[in-house]
Amino acid sequence: MKINKVLITGVCGFIGSNLLDFLFENTNWKIDGVDNLSTGSIKNIEHLFNEDRFRFYKKQCKDLKSLKVYDVVFHLAALPRIQPSFITINEHLDANLNQSIHLIELMIKDNHYPKLVFSGSSSVYGTPNLIPTPENAKIDCLSPYAFQKYEFEKYLELVSNRFPLNYIVLRYFNPFGDRSFNPLNKDNAYSSVVGIFLNRKNQGKLLQITGNGKQKRDFVHVLDLARANYLSAIYPKKLNTVFNVGLGKTISILELAKMINGNNFQFIDKREGESEITFADITKINKILGWKPTIKIEDYINKLNT
Ligand SMILES: NC(=O)c1ccc[n+]([C@@H]2O[C@H](COP(=O)([O-])OP(=O)(O)OC[C@H]3O[C@@H](n4cnc5c(N)ncnc54)[C@H](O)[C@@H]3O)[C@@H](O)[C@H]2O)c1
Repeated sequence: MKINKVLITGVCGFIGSNLLDFLFENTNWKIDGVDNLSTGSIKNIEHLFNEDRFRFYKKQCKDLKSLKVYDVVFHLAALPRIQPSFITINEHLDANLNQSIHLIELMIKDNHYPKLVFSGSSSVYGTPNLIPTPENAKIDCLSPYAFQKYEFEKYLELVSNRFPLNYIVLRYFNPFGDRSFNPLNKDNAYSSVVGIFLNRKNQGKLLQITGNGKQKRDFVHVLDLARANYLSAIYPKKLNTVFNVGLGKTISILELAKMINGNNFQFIDKREGESEITFADITKINKILGWKPTIKIEDYINKLNT
């Protein structure tokens, strides 16, 4: 399949804007981006505003009328924070599930099925029954957010039994990298922990570790996520499957805090709905898409510290 034009939803967000830069540099595709700016920032994409190959539309996914012009849709738009998803449940349900289903309905309406690369989440594994965790591990959603991400995966699977959907779900583990912390986002206290820690360090504040800090995370760099999206898009056959995207190694939050800010940290209360460990088994994505992570968290932090 030749790819001419793609859509990125959630293009102003942390991962969406990094994906935009990656695709802009590594392909000659025309790229449309949509975002309602609920958590993202226009600053993340304005450096490409004068480029003919990129168009930005400030709108919600549910206001899209057709996907007919696209060969691939990278669907990243979401309200991606675990803790707020317990409070404004309907708002999260709308952003994470209903607006995603709208994309499927547009495909059915037009009988046009661009490849859909969906940003899923390792949060669907909750307390994993297998470590490292393969894609067929038990699903154990501990939060509304995780459940909404999983529900959409399930809709893709169910609807593809009836209509010719062409989709890949990428279950990201714990992303880190530039733009992970948006200071203007009211929910940024719950954004990626690496971004929160770096922001507190820059402000001269103590890092705050939830619980005892022994919880382990598998941190994956945003450029490696962008490449996983790209490889999913160009894979020539229909897969309709799910891939883990992680480093395949873990470090504890305590180790991360020490790496970033020495002994300048304090402990705060543990949060419900968050797993004790995320640890990706990345055999499947490596074997099928040929994807491998290239950037380790310690190298990223060391570079920032030098
Ligand atoms: N960052 C993480 O820790 C993480 C982990 C696993 C999965 N993910 C998934 O990756 C994707 C991107 O996450 P991120 O970290 O870049 O988050 P982000 O909040 O930085 O980006 C999400 C973007 O979507 C936009 N958006 C939200 N609802 C929208 C709607 N209805 N219509 C149009 N735009 C909308 C927001 O304004 C924002 O720019 C999400 O789907 C998220 O669930 C993120």
